[in-house]
Amino acid sequence: MATPVILDCDPGHDDAFNILLAAAHPAIDLLAITTVAGNQTVAKTTLNARRVCTAAGIEGVPIAAGRDRPLHGPVRVAASIHGESGLDGPGFADPTVPLDPRDALTLLHDTLLTHPEPVTLVPTGPLTNIAALLLAYPEVKERIARIVLMGGSTDRGNTTPAAEFNIHCDPEAADLVFTSGLPVTMIGLNASHQVLATPDVIARVEALGTPLARVCGEMLGFFSDRYREVFGLPGAPLHDPLTVAHLIDPELLGCVRAHVAVELHGRHTRGATVVDLHRVTGQEPNAEVATEVDVDRFWDLITGAVRSLGDRQS
Ligand code: RIB
Ligand code: CA
Repeated sequence: MATPVILDCDPGHDDAFNILLAAAHPAIDLLAITTVAGNQTVAKTTLNARRVCTAAGIEGVPIAAGRDRPLHGPVRVAASIHGESGLDGPGFADPTVPLDPRDALTLLHDTLLTHPEPVTLVPTGPLTNIAALLLAYPEVKERIARIVLMGGSTDRGNTTPAAEFNIHCDPEAADLVFTSGLPVTMIGLNASHQVLATPDVIARVEALGTPLARVCGEMLGFFSDRYREVFGLPGAPLHDPLTVAHLIDPELLGCVRAHVAVELHGRHTRGATVVDLHRVTGQEPNAEVATEVDVDRFWDLITGAVRSLGDRQS
């Protein structure tokens, strides 16, 4: 039985691959895509979601735009990593996949309340939409099976020395999610930095030889060039698709239960996820935290998704 999923994302190169994986794999029933300000403005992340779905021939999945700013604090984007468009690299044609007339919260609310079984939420951007949903419609909590998010880290950050981008963009929203009482799986930088899109990985994707494979190679190429220039890494960590990959194959990640606190006030540490791996605080665990990754299985899933979608178009 396929897992019903809603992606809440800020495409963003790695978000784009999460859309491809969710749409391609039979273990996932992709019900909807909502977008949020993060890697770029919400106007750009929404356009990018439509571009990716158009390029991959993903039809019939509603896409709705969400919040344009965090619950508190300024809007931040990551143009240094994702470019001015938020998805630099390929030259995308104008999207043919339409924008849903509803806003993200309405689409989330409608989908959660009408779907016959509880739905898994997969946020891979700032948690603004999810927090706003829980605040506006607390009754939807019983319709949420679990939340599997990309964000945070058990060790250092990437936006400040302490904070990862998604959490740093909207710490109050993240705090609300981690204290919601809902089952949360946190996939942080400590896990995602184990899946780097090195030149060998990019060559494996491009060798699939379809137009979609070429677009994916261009996305990975731009993304990895930026990570090489900014962080000196041999390839870009493909953060977000670890979420859907975990849903497809729960054995792909090694997880531990731990208490996760979001720092809201630290002058140097605001937005940090403080993960009590050794239970020194005595606080009850509130999340499954990813620590280990089956890297080969992950890349098999990614290349399999690109192959499957590309073949459907030929
Ligand atoms: O820190 C990495 C995360 O922030 C990823 O989800 C990336 O797409 C950005 O949203
Ligand atoms: Ca993202």
